[in-house]
Amino acid sequence: MRTVREIMSAPAVTTTAGESVAAVTARMADKNIGSLIVLDDQSRPIGIWTERDFLLFSSQQVAPDTAKIADWMAIKNPAVLDSHEEIEAAYAKVRNAPHRCVPVVEDGKIVGVVSKSDLLEFASISQVESPESNAAPKGLSGVVVAETELGDVRGQEGFYHYRQYSAIDLAKHLSIEEVWYFLLNGTLPTAVERSAFLAEIRSLSVIPANVRSMLSQISGRAEDTELLNNLRTAVSFAAQAFDFKPSLDIDRAELMANGIRICAVVPSLIAALYRIRHGLDIVEPHPELGYTANYLYMITGEIPDPQFARAIEQYQILTIDHGFNASTFAARVIISTGADIGAAMAGAIGALSGPLHGGAPSRVLEMLHAIGQPESARPWARNMVENGKRIMGFGHRVYKTHDPRSLLLREIAIGLGGELMELATNVEKAIEEVLSELKPGRELYANVEYYAAVVMSRCGLHPDLFTPTFASSRIIGWSAHILEQASDNRIIRPSARYVGPPAPQPLPN
Ligand SMILES: CC(C)(COP(=O)(O)OP(=O)(O)OC[C@H]1O[C@@H](n2cnc3c(N)ncnc32)[C@H](O)[C@@H]1OP(=O)(O)O)[C@@H](O)C(=O)NCCC(=O)NCCS
Repeated sequence: MRTVREIMSAPAVTTTAGESVAAVTARMADKNIGSLIVLDDQSRPIGIWTERDFLLFSSQQVAPDTAKIADWMAIKNPAVLDSHEEIEAAYAKVRNAPHRCVPVVEDGKIVGVVSKSDLLEFASISQVESPESNAAPKGLSGVVVAETELGDVRGQEGFYHYRQYSAIDLAKHLSIEEVWYFLLNGTLPTAVERSAFLAEIRSLSVIPANVRSMLSQISGRAEDTELLNNLRTAVSFAAQAFDFKPSLDIDRAELMANGIRICAVVPSLIAALYRIRHGLDIVEPHPELGYTANYLYMITGEIPDPQFARAIEQYQILTIDHGFNASTFAARVIISTGADIGAAMAGAIGALSGPLHGGAPSRVLEMLHAIGQPESARPWARNMVENGKRIMGFGHRVYKTHDPRSLLLREIAIGLGGELMELATNVEKAIEEVLSELKPGRELYANVEYYAAVVMSRCGLHPDLFTPTFASSRIIGWSAHILEQASDNRIIRPSARYVGPPAPQPLPN
């Protein structure tokens, strides 16, 4: 069994708490390192000084040659490892530590340093003998690429959760603002916190004048452009107008404020873009309505039916987060480069726009219209599958049983009633039967988008708004993931196996 001693770097670059910021920064630059270990007078680690501390320090206009690092160091009493510890156990011990480099000690005194990523690499190499088998499966299916406290999807059980609570329970019992607050802060809001958060979101829902003036240019004719693509461009403009700074240069509080700001304005942007493309005047946010009711109000100009508002709100809660889906991963990849949150959000919207991810619900509606009546569902589905086509709103990468979101949305759809719901429940059954016959063993069931289309349509949302409405809630999940990624960041930069012609070859004359 390999121990930490075998992979640590020694000697560690260290300093003492009394040293000045200027001296320590010079040493880091000289050694080309991003952090160093702070020791007490008996060589025991008492903290870690990082580049992030320096960035925060630099924004305060204090003289670096007199400031002591002890007064500015964020990580005190760091996790340490004994040099004799076995690598996998060591990794398990420190993987949640808020610092990347871990001091290694013998008898409590520093003898070296090891990075969490080295521990992880050596831990997994000892599990996976052949380098060939390090290749990830296509689509990264089943590959664990990060650790998260934000939630998980258990595909075999048909269960998912936000932090420690079932997402379904949250959708049944809480408002979207409460779930949003919970996801960001890790605790459910008290009554006072809830009203303060509501007031904050309301005040941020107004579109800045310089973005508003651009919207008619961004917006295209409904038949020519997807509303979600308009939104992507509008989010870029808004991020620029808000003057978001690179995430690398700001602290968690500022990044969180940026996230709340962009999330709060997105429903207003969607509604405004929708109204412009339909030749209508923009409706200002309502001063009293909650997030979802206000969204519907800005779309129609009328106070929404509370049953419809609650149905859409529950849909939004259900879709805030869902594991490492493509758009969430895209957001995390972009923020891992230190880019600003607007860049990450615009990239994530791009990922969401694909029909294999978020672009399916309007296609579900088209499908239901094309099928028209329950009796046509079987031959229609058979024809699609036999011609190698995919049926929109069915199948899922992770769920190999019923999608819990789809089950709750079906309940909501049944509560709302209507002809489309009648058709949808019959068609669902017929399609699932055809899929189980023609694709045996694949476990293909209706996914979230199937009943999302039914619910949104019943609540009066135009199909143009389906995927943007999905974006209006998923953006909250993206912001939580962005914060998590930034708080313990390493640039996400995997590798690929080159399979082209052998290189180098001479250039043609
Ligand atoms: C969601 C989705 C992209 C997951 O893809 P995936 O995990 O890569 O699944 P695979 O492509 O490996 O599919 C496994 C098998 O099921 C089939 N399959 C999956 N979804 C299907 C669908 N909706 N209709 C018909 N067949 C489907 C595939 O053709 C494949 O069959 P094969 O083994 O004969 O090749 C996929 O199910 C899909 O395209 N669904 C339709 C689009 C949709 O509803 N998207 C919204 C997702 S929330």
